[in-house]
Amino acid sequence: MAYADIYKGWQDDPEGFWMQAAEAIDWDRKPSKALFADNAPLYEWFCDGIVNTCWNAVDRHVKTRGDQAAIIYDSPVTGTKRTITYRELQGLVANLAGVLQAKDVAKGDRVVIYMPMVAEALIAMLACARIGAIHSVVFGGFASNELAVRIDDARPKAILTASCGIEPGRIVEYKPLLNGAIELATHKPDFTLILQREQSPCTLTEGRDFDWFEAQQGVAPAECVPVEGNHPAYILYTSGTTGAPKGVVRPTGGHLVALNWTMKNIYNVDPGDTFWAASDVGWVVGHSYICYAPLIHGNTTIVFEGKPVGTPDAGTFWRVISEHNVRSFFTAPTAFRAIKREDPKGEFLKPYDISCLNILFLAGERADPDTIEWAQDLLGVPVIDHWWQTETGYTIAGNPMGIEHLAVKIGSPTVPMPGYEIDILNDEGHPAAFGELGAIAVKLPLPPGTLPTLWNAEDRFRKSYLDHFPGYYETGDAGMKDEDGYVWIMARTDDVINVAGHRLSTGGMEEVLASHPDVAECAVIGVTDQLKGQLPMGFVCLTKGVDRPHSDITRECVKLLREKIGPVAAFKLCVVVDRLPKTRSGKILRATMVKIADGAEFKLPATIDDPAILDEIREALGGLGYPAG
Ligand code: COA
Ligand code: AMP
Repeated sequence: MAYADIYKGWQDDPEGFWMQAAEAIDWDRKPSKALFADNAPLYEWFCDGIVNTCWNAVDRHVKTRGDQAAIIYDSPVTGTKRTITYRELQGLVANLAGVLQAKDVAKGDRVVIYMPMVAEALIAMLACARIGAIHSVVFGGFASNELAVRIDDARPKAILTASCGIEPGRIVEYKPLLNGAIELATHKPDFTLILQREQSPCTLTEGRDFDWFEAQQGVAPAECVPVEGNHPAYILYTSGTTGAPKGVVRPTGGHLVALNWTMKNIYNVDPGDTFWAASDVGWVVGHSYICYAPLIHGNTTIVFEGKPVGTPDAGTFWRVISEHNVRSFFTAPTAFRAIKREDPKGEFLKPYDISCLNILFLAGERADPDTIEWAQDLLGVPVIDHWWQTETGYTIAGNPMGIEHLAVKIGSPTVPMPGYEIDILNDEGHPAAFGELGAIAVKLPLPPGTLPTLWNAEDRFRKSYLDHFPGYYETGDAGMKDEDGYVWIMARTDDVINVAGHRLSTGGMEEVLASHPDVAECAVIGVTDQLKGQLPMGFVCLTKGVDRPHSDITRECVKLLREKIGPVAAFKLCVVVDRLPKTRSGKILRATMVKIADGAEFKLPATIDDPAILDEIREALGGLGYPAG
């Protein structure tokens, strides 16, 4: 069947479509129906089904593919490789889940996971799923303060972590970050489990910290605990419009059904194939496509601890693809920009046979045409852009390669997937004409597996996503649709910026800069960057009477932001200015500042209070080397 038929089939009978997709899942009790709409506009799926995620991702495969690799851990930063079969994975997960149970972690309790890219990160996620505990993974590049904010919101009974992470050229000690976070947080976990890594073991805090493996001695392995279809599988925090991150809730049943559907229909892999998503378990891509979807579907997944370049060189991706027989590969455009910069002619590809690779998938940020074309020429396989968000957990618009390879229009992630009806809405909330820019919204209900609400924040959920355009989910992205139904993603409508495929809030960064004692007022904008897509840039106005050297203050601001948010923010550009450009009503003209920094043309906003300030901004930008090149 062609995409158009399948999409129409879903439109005509969404209930039938999802009930059929649900057949691929092992239910302890089958759901009586798919959609539960009693509480509209809040929707849930498969609520009366009873199911366990870990069973579907691990145990059910042991009989049919017990000796197949479930996880391949490949770590160029430590020089280690390890293969874990489905049978072995079952034992490892059951043992860890046994420790959690023995320490009183039960269904519905939260567990924070703060881990580097090691196989144990997936084992930890699956162990939680096994006993119905709700995990919340925090990316290792976030600092103590961000971890503390998440601890206070999720209120975990336990934190699972490692002694260190490894970045090229430096070891990231996790223990001081963990201690700092627990100290900062109001909520205290009952205990932590720490994976000691030989690169830098840490000292355990007596009575609170337990060794990952020692704790497993003499503990009975845990069985799978069946949960309701709408039981939260996990919470994943993502950037919102303030410094407080949003806790996206992922419901169990819909997550299983939808992710399993995507593996064949979108990524075109069959059970037994190797699928690789080069991301991090701290992000949604890591949740969905390093951990859950490939395992639910019976694939082999790769946990890669390294970078596209420098570990050891720009050929590392090609080595992994060829060595582990990768069929479909998924990464962020920024990774390809990094490789292209280092090895524009593709010399590092030459030693490797990557004929196993069928398709490259890109997501996480806008895929620029140069990068797509370069990747296509180099690899000789289709390069498929697809668009999605933490909130949805899988593709909103894409090219369903397992159904039909639709014509690619470079710059567009192609068309809506079944489950998603996309409209472009103008300021009045009416559908825009073809080719007209507007807010991208999805007709409710969102499909299974997408967020039903935010953790402990239903009001915020309604305000952030539902209230502005009644009957729709507001994506926060702006873009357009063309006559062929292709979707074009152009910009964010909020303060979110995308730095190397990482979603960050400039509002959150402004809160940090504003906490510097010498800063009276500030603005953070996202400027275009050739490698990372965007980079944050801070403008600070000083408190009256402060006469310290500006370079000292900006250095402190950079350090403060790294301490409070983490190195992942890549905040290195900061400048002192006398005033910020504003409208007469006092709104900072951030979009105009972005245009000036990017060297783009712009219309002077009619509401600007004092246009002369823009000259000052131009001068400050010049000092930072912007507009670049
Ligand atoms: N733990 C601790 N620190 C981390 C970290 C982690 N898990 N991940 C990144 N960092 C640090 C880096 O060490 C770096 O610190 P530095 O300022 O001391 O150099 C900083 O955070 C920025 O990291 P990164 O964004 O990785 O930039 P980079 O310059 O080291 O590498 C790329 C550039 C393009 C190679 C890299 O960004 C990349 O691989 N991007 C792909 C992103 C991706 O997969 N995104 C997922 C969405 S699909
Ligand atoms: P995250 O929640 O971290 O996955 O980030 C989601 C946001 O990243 C989206 O709302 C978009 O702004 C951006 N994004 C993700 N994929 C794409 C894509 N293929 N094209 C353009 N932007 C994208």
